[in-house]
Amino acid sequence: MKRDPADVKLFVSSVLPDIGIDMLRRESFNVMTWDEDAPIPPDELVKNAKQVEALLCTLTAKIDAGFLSECGHLQIISQFGVGYDNIDIGEATRLGIPVGNTPGVLTDATADIAFGLMIAASRKMFFMHKKIEKGKWKHFTPKSNLGIELKGKTLGVFGLGRIGTEMAKRCKGAYNMDVLYHNRKPNKEAEELLNARYVSFDELLAQSDVLSVHSVSSEETKGIFNRTAFEKMKPTSIFINTSRGAVHNEQDLVRALNERRIWGAGLDVTNPEPMDKNNALLNMETVAVLPHIGSATVEARNAMSKLAAENIIEFYRHGQIPHLVNPEVLQKT
Ligand code: DGY
Repeated sequence: MKRDPADVKLFVSSVLPDIGIDMLRRESFNVMTWDEDAPIPPDELVKNAKQVEALLCTLTAKIDAGFLSECGHLQIISQFGVGYDNIDIGEATRLGIPVGNTPGVLTDATADIAFGLMIAASRKMFFMHKKIEKGKWKHFTPKSNLGIELKGKTLGVFGLGRIGTEMAKRCKGAYNMDVLYHNRKPNKEAEELLNARYVSFDELLAQSDVLSVHSVSSEETKGIFNRTAFEKMKPTSIFINTSRGAVHNEQDLVRALNERRIWGAGLDVTNPEPMDKNNALLNMETVAVLPHIGSATVEARNAMSKLAAENIIEFYRHGQIPHLVNPEVLQKT
C-alpha cells in the first residue's frame, strides 16, 4: 500500500530500541509510543490501535481474534520478533492485514543462549551459584556436585531452521556432537553442513543426549513435550527450550525431572511467562532457567528494531514487506 508516511499514524506498543523509532520518525510517520515499562493492557492496546493505521508490537501484545474484531482497519502489523504466536495470523489474513516479523537477526544471540543453557544444566551451574549465595560453599567435595560431559554426545534438534542450525554448529564445533533432527520437512542444506540425520519424533526422543527445541509454537507443536514424550527420553538426557514455552508442558517437565526420567533442563522460555518465583524448577540442581533473553543483545535488539521499522517503511513506500508472515494477503491486492 503506497502512502505518504506523513499521512500514516503508527502505534508502537512496547518500549523498543530507538533505532527503529528514529527511522520511522525520519520518514515522517506520526509515531505514538507506549512508554511504560510493562506490557500494554489489552484495552489500552485496542484504544490506541483504533486511532492508527499501523501497529508495531512485540510478543506481549495479544493480537487475537477479539483485538482484530475491533481493529480490522489496521493496514499493517509489524512484529518486533521472529516468533509471532501472540498474533492470530489466520484472522489477520482473513481481514487482509499483512503481518511482518524480524527473522535472521537474532539467530546467533538465541543459539548462544541455547548453548549456554546446555552447559549450565550439564554442570549444575545455576544451582551451584545459588549455593555460594546461601553460604553453602564449605570445602572441596570430590564426590558431589558432579555434572555430565557433552563431548561426543548426540544433539537432537526439534525444528532445524536458522537457530537450530546455529545451535548444532556450536555443539559440533565445541564437542563434536552427532546431530539428529526432526522437522516438518527435511532440511537438506543443514544435513550437508552438519552431517545431520533426519529422524522420526520418537527416534529423536529416544536417541538424543541433549534435545534442543527450536520450533515455532503452533497447533501441531503445542505441548508436544509432555509426559509421554519425556518418558521416551534417556534418563541421562537434557531438555533445552529457547523457542516458546507453549511447546512443553511444564508440570510434566517438573514430574519428569523429579522422577529422573530425564537428567536436566535448560529453559529460556517457560509456560506460562513470566515464571512464578516459587516454581519448583528454580530449585532443581540440574535445571537452568532464564527469563526469555534469547534475543537480548545490543546487536540483535537494534537489528530487530531496524527490521520491524523497515517492514513498515517499505510497505508504505513500495507496497512490499521484506519479511512478511502471510504473503497471501499482498498477493490478493
Ligand atoms: C522472538 O523474536 O520471537 C523472541 O522470542 C523475542 O525476542
